Amino acid sequence: MVLVKNLSTFLPLVLSQALMSNAHLSVWMPSMYGLDPTNINSDNASQPLQGYTFEQWWWHGNLDNPPADNESFALPANGSVDVEISSNKAFTTLGRGFKDANPRMAPDPWLNQNGWGNMHAPSRADVAGSALAIAYKSDAESVLPSDFVVFSVVHDSPARQLETFHVPDLPVCPNDRCMCSWFWIHKSIGGTDQMYMVPFVCHVTNATNTTPLGKPVAPVNCEGDKSKCVQGAKSPMYWMNLEGNNMFEPGHYAPTYNTGYGYFEGAQTDIWIDGHNATSTTGTSANVAAATKAVSKGVRHGGVHRRRGWFGGN
Ligand SMILES: *[C@@H]1O[C@H](CO)[C@@H](O)[C@H](O)[C@H]1NC(C)=O
Ligand SMILES: *[C@@H]1O[C@H](CO)[C@@H](O)[C@H](O)[C@H]1NC(C)=O
Ligand SMILES: *[C@@H]1O[C@H](CO)[C@@H](O)[C@H](O)[C@H]1NC(C)=O
Ligand SMILES: *[C@@H]1O[C@H](CO)[C@@H](O)[C@H](O)[C@H]1NC(C)=O
Ligand SMILES: *[C@@H]1O[C@H](CO)[C@@H](O)[C@H](O)[C@H]1NC(C)=O
Repeated sequence: MVLVKNLSTFLPLVLSQALMSNAHLSVWMPSMYGLDPTNINSDNASQPLQGYTFEQWWWHGNLDNPPADNESFALPANGSVDVEISSNKAFTTLGRGFKDANPRMAPDPWLNQNGWGNMHAPSRADVAGSALAIAYKSDAESVLPSDFVVFSVVHDSPARQLETFHVPDLPVCPNDRCMCSWFWIHKSIGGTDQMYMVPFVCHVTNATNTTPLGKPVAPVNCEGDKSKCVQGAKSPMYWMNLEGNNMFEPGHYAPTYNTGYGYFEGAQTDIWIDGHNATSTTGTSANVAAATKAVSKGVRHGGVHRRRGWFGGN
């Protein structure tokens, strides 16, 4: 696939200059697909996805680049995880270490110290939110776009090199192995329209909940009318590629992981209920009774038992 040439051959000094004009962002962890293990300066994972065929964008084009067999990212049920975010592996603990002295602080002022590469975020508002999703399948090859459920969102991200995501009371993974992915769509303030996807192997620790997640649907824009927000399990947003999109906003109207699309802050505690429009009255989900007990207040009963199809998918 034709993508921005990676920066592997650049010297560190040149690298940071290049990042100033050409930087994107991704999470980095040993269990990711596309870790690019021999290249400490890899920016493979942080390349944005737009205008690609399904094979090119899905799994970030890295289905054939799995992590080492012994690597898996632990998600403690009801706990939280720290995720490293950078434009380049060099600026993570997998490389030379964080670029910012305090990686938990957002750069302040925003642009001047933003050398680690929020180049698609000319203003703080443009970062717009990023998300973690999980698919209860152990085999990457068998994961469909409709398998991922968004389980955690940080609205003000990516804005820090070390970001905390809260984990809901997830059930245990089949064979203790799931597939996860980080997703991000920045607002279009910077002028570009694209999505980010970084898949990784994960597992849930200390799980006691046995209720499976509901069936996700793509969210809808409910910015002006909260009663339109999709409730319950929501898919990640697939946008701006040639195939496999589930969001159809035109360019410069980026759908974002924020309240405007019904993703609330933190652990998504409504994911045991099938995704449904708030106004839906038909249909019930097998999971609703169990979920109603487990889920925090505010989540409504019911739900349309409808799985959003994906071409070739279910
Ligand atoms: C990442 O690297 C793999 C292996 O070289 C390549 O197939 C893939 O296209 C790259 N992805 C991006 C987005 O650069
Ligand atoms: C996995 O194996 C590699 C190579 O032996 C080792 O460097 C790494 O620390 C191991 N990771 C874990 C999580 O045990
Ligand atoms: C998870 O469970 C193990 C015992 O199975 C316990 O030692 C550990 O403290 C627990 N971790 C958390 C985060 O609750
Ligand atoms: C998570 O929190 C829920 C609700 O407070 C509780 O019922 C459940 O036992 C907790 N699970 C774990 C693994 O701590
Ligand atoms: C929710 O409503 C929107 C438009 O109002 C529609 O496109 C979407 O398919 C509905 N989703 C569900 C799960 O009913």
